[in-house]
Amino acid sequence: MLISSRLQRFVSSNPTLETPFLTLQALVMSEEHGTLVKTPKQLIIVSVIALVVPVGIALLGAQLVTGSKRVDPAEAKKSVESRIKPVGELVKFDGAPPPAAPAVVAAAAPAKAKSGEEVYQLACTACHGAGIAGAPKTGDKTAWAPRIAQGAATLYEHAIKGFKTMPAKGGQSALSDDEVKAAVDYQVAKAK
Ligand code: HEC
Repeated sequence: MLISSRLQRFVSSNPTLETPFLTLQALVMSEEHGTLVKTPKQLIIVSVIALVVPVGIALLGAQLVTGSKRVDPAEAKKSVESRIKPVGELVKFDGAPPPAAPAVVAAAAPAKAKSGEEVYQLACTACHGAGIAGAPKTGDKTAWAPRIAQGAATLYEHAIKGFKTMPAKGGQSALSDDEVKAAVDYQVAKAK
């Protein structure tokens, strides 16, 4: 058959079959002057073949590419679920803290206030321990008596905000006001 031999030649010269229909149409038109496609019926048959053959080839090809991958449905479901699962999980809080929580609380714990002695050792003893730079020496009753006479409120304010060469909070700005007050109380108690 002339058409099939031409089709065969066409397929082998153009394996991608990108425009099979158009090419077949061209074939049919060229045959109109010959003997093969003469009636509308023949034209319809050729057109149907032109449509069915490439689609069949495409389906076979698709089957060949994807058909080898047989996936177990349960496995597929699991892998899809693992891919679409949410980033975080909602944990219901029912009284007892979740296991990870205590560590976080412990890390935030340093907010606990230091005692007067702790603050003194950390921030005050450098000057007040030996009476450096005119600082009233801790435990020196004569040096502290006139200062204590000013009243606790003044001592607190001077210790917190600074006073002459006395730096605010002894230079430790991270201390809370209450911690500095506790250190003042500690020094005042030592001078009584
Ligand atoms: C850098 C040295 C230095 C450090 C550190 C320091 N002080 Fe003083 N402080 C002084 C000096 C100097 C004075 C005396 C100021 C003056 O009367 O001329 C003083 C005075 C004071 C007074 C008396 C203020 C008054 O009204 O007479 C208090 C109370 C005091 N310091 C508390 C503290 C406390 C509490 C700390 C620690 C948190 C501290 N100081 C750390 C140097 C220091």
